[in-house]
Amino acid sequence: MRRKLAAGNWKMNGTLAALGEVDSLALAAQGAAEVLVCPPFPLIAPAAGRVPGVAIGGQTCHPETSGAFTGEVSAGMLADVGASYVILGHSERREMFDEHDDHIRARCRAAWQAGLKVILCIGETEAQRDAQNTLDILGGQMAGSIPDGATGHNLVVAYEPIWAIGTGRTATPDQIGEVHDFIRARLERRFGAGVGRSTRLLYGGSVKPGNAAEIFAVSNVDGALVGGASLKSADFILIIDALNAASD
Ligand code: 13P
Repeated sequence: MRRKLAAGNWKMNGTLAALGEVDSLALAAQGAAEVLVCPPFPLIAPAAGRVPGVAIGGQTCHPETSGAFTGEVSAGMLADVGASYVILGHSERREMFDEHDDHIRARCRAAWQAGLKVILCIGETEAQRDAQNTLDILGGQMAGSIPDGATGHNLVVAYEPIWAIGTGRTATPDQIGEVHDFIRARLERRFGAGVGRSTRLLYGGSVKPGNAAEIFAVSNVDGALVGGASLKSADFILIIDALNAASD
């Protein structure tokens, strides 16, 4: 019922030459799992439609449709050049670019208006986990940043513990399972059982070929949001293959 999703977040990496990495995904993208690459803005147009089965997304968008917002890109612009997804609320945007829940909620509305699917990221710091505040923090982020109107089609939630991003440390299967069960329960409570059960939940944070299968075996994990390991197609393909295997 929920199609698994392997999403690569290239962050601020990649030039035109890196599009060869997208080309290399062609075979892996023919499996059961959906494959998505989110490159930097300048690469979205040349990447979109390039490889059958590889969807392309942005990494943020501005809430307004157009206007005097120097340096920003609107959701409609992303859709116009072929993006079908946008990542919103990534912890790097929240921390480094001062994006708060209300900004993210506005961006999410704009993305939906433009017909984009949203990968909404939530995650706790290590200090918040140590203080046993993880579920409170995540529940607050969900309530604050997801607008009304979510469906299993327009929303994907990505759990990315901040302490696991780019650190080589991964949350344990028990930690991931607890959080993903919680996220699904919260979605069901707010949006109803149908939406709650059909919304895909991704784990992100140092997902690698060596730990992917173990993570994909956790219940309520419908895929991964992959940073560093999505930059090299050889690694990303192994992760996609693990997800294809978990889809059977
Ligand atoms: P890494 O896979 O490099 O830890 O990054 C995860 C991430 O932030 C994906 O959005």
